[in-house]
Amino acid sequence: MRMSRDHSVPNSSATLAKGSLGSLHYLRHYIAPHRLMVVCALLALLVTSSSVLGLGYALRTLVDEGIARGDRALLDRSFLLLFAVILLLAGTTYARYFLVSWIGERVVAQMRRDIYHHLLHLDACFFETHRTGELLSRITTDTTLIQAVVGSSVSVALRNILLLCGGLIMLFSTSIELTAYVLLIVPLVVTPIIIIGKKVRALSRATQDKIADLNVHAEETIYAIQTIQAFTLEDRHEQQFHDHVMASLTTARARIAMRAQLTALVITLVLGAIATVLWIGGQNVLAGTMSAGELSSFVFYAVVVAGSTGAISEVIGDMQRAAGAVERLAEIKQTESTLLRTIPPIPLPDPPLGTLRFEDVQFFYPSRPDIPALNHISFTVERGETVAIVGASGSGKSTLFRMLLRYYDPASGRILCNDTPLHHYDIGALRQRMAVVSQDPMIFSASARANIALGTPHATMDAIRQAAHDAEILEFIEQLPQGFESYLGEKGIRLSGGQKQRISIARAIIRAPDLLLLDEATSALDSENERKVQEALTRVMQERTTLVIAHRLATVRNADKILVMHNGAIDAVGTHDELFASHELYHTLAQQQFKAS
Ligand SMILES: Nc1ncnc2c1ncn2[C@@H]1O[C@H](COP(=O)(O)OP(=O)(O)OP(=O)(O)O)[C@@H](O)[C@H]1O
Ligand SMILES: [Mg+2]
Repeated sequence: MRMSRDHSVPNSSATLAKGSLGSLHYLRHYIAPHRLMVVCALLALLVTSSSVLGLGYALRTLVDEGIARGDRALLDRSFLLLFAVILLLAGTTYARYFLVSWIGERVVAQMRRDIYHHLLHLDACFFETHRTGELLSRITTDTTLIQAVVGSSVSVALRNILLLCGGLIMLFSTSIELTAYVLLIVPLVVTPIIIIGKKVRALSRATQDKIADLNVHAEETIYAIQTIQAFTLEDRHEQQFHDHVMASLTTARARIAMRAQLTALVITLVLGAIATVLWIGGQNVLAGTMSAGELSSFVFYAVVVAGSTGAISEVIGDMQRAAGAVERLAEIKQTESTLLRTIPPIPLPDPPLGTLRFEDVQFFYPSRPDIPALNHISFTVERGETVAIVGASGSGKSTLFRMLLRYYDPASGRILCNDTPLHHYDIGALRQRMAVVSQDPMIFSASARANIALGTPHATMDAIRQAAHDAEILEFIEQLPQGFESYLGEKGIRLSGGQKQRISIARAIIRAPDLLLLDEATSALDSENERKVQEALTRVMQERTTLVIAHRLATVRNADKILVMHNGAIDAVGTHDELFASHELYHTLAQQQFKAS
């Protein structure tokens, strides 16, 4: 048996390691499955590059043998050769473009699936320390950057590297002297390009971060639009958005300016160099040491070499941006859940979950590491018992549930089920035995049926109907235009608070869990509906262990015991009558909070 805990603290994209093109190496896992296509694409690429180089040769033949010698038949043949090379170039370019783009699409589709899968299994701490917009831009923007590189830039770079090398070889074979000049000039051309390229990359990353800020802001606005309108915050939000846009524009401007400088520099240096070489070459032709065809093809190859240098420096920028994106994605993929895990897990008890015990549990939320949200909590719940938890707002009641659901692990102390710490069980299997009705029920953008059967995808329609009936929501659903198939809107926007709560109660009822966790499950209901739902819940609670965060007198009265929470600690344990008589805090709470229904 092995226990693992990964202490890596997830950090934001702003603190990413200094990445280099080397991080593109990470993509090999994704490219490997498409080996065959990669090989074909490489072949196509090889042929394209050779045909471009062949064009120079055909040109030289055309000039020297055809035109200069005045041989018409040779001219025709040279022309046919030229044309054949052009056709070959077109065909292989088609194949290369198709294959490479298709590989790009498939690689990115797989990456998106992978990241999504990984995100689904990360712990609560991760999501508290990462902004939603930032994570979304990882899945969309970053993967798009990578797609551009895999689906184009890499092949452009490769093609141009081939052209560069081939071009240089052809230059050498044409004139060593002239090529020596070219090579002397190369370092002078390349060094400034690399330096400015680095700056462009830093600015690209800054732009990405600014765009992420902008996304976060827009998303929050759309999510909270009604609150914004109710408090007439439109102007303020608009101003804030404006500031974000301006900030991203400022960085974008700096990046564009730098990028433009880079391009201008490339043109000046590279074309300047060619002009110089041409000038020297022209003198050679005048001196008779070089033929006109040789100079033509030399110029052609020099242009190819210059063009490919320019293209390489262009795509290096893209590749560097993609390298940054790869790093950010790899960072997420390397973040492991910090929850304790036991390998292999112990099978859960069958029959169901028995005694639950908290032993001196302390817990701190990651964002508030100094103040314990749970402070030395100890209590036991026997199988089948109903335990009510009461306490002022913020006293840690919902946190207790979050610990049971294993969103977090305790900082110290243990939570045991059947005398075995929870982390010895498989987390999914454990959660399957529970059903929770939370304070803020989540409704998915799906039908009423799908929302009720959320935790029990194979439930029969009869069971769904029965659960809806027990949760007092059947009548409402049947009146909807499409009954159980009616769409409930994003985040349940088409439902009232009480309706959402009843859907989530139906969801818990149909799951028939061993452990039922009710967090103020009936707070949004009117007293008539609350009474009915309470009856249904009472039936469900009878057969199983229940922890209920209680706000009703009837619930606390019927509970086997009551935990009174205060500032993250358990202040007292007892029955309603005991506590009401002797515990001052409980007495006050009972008088202020409990609705007598
Ligand atoms: N994700 C979080 N990060 C940091 N602090 C948190 C987080 N969630 C809750 N807290 C804090 O932990 C304390 C306990 O919160 P909890 O949600 O357990 O309260 P509660 O007893 O359920 O209150 P209520 O009756 O209002 O629902 C509160 O002070 C709260 O501010
Ligand atoms: Mg709560």
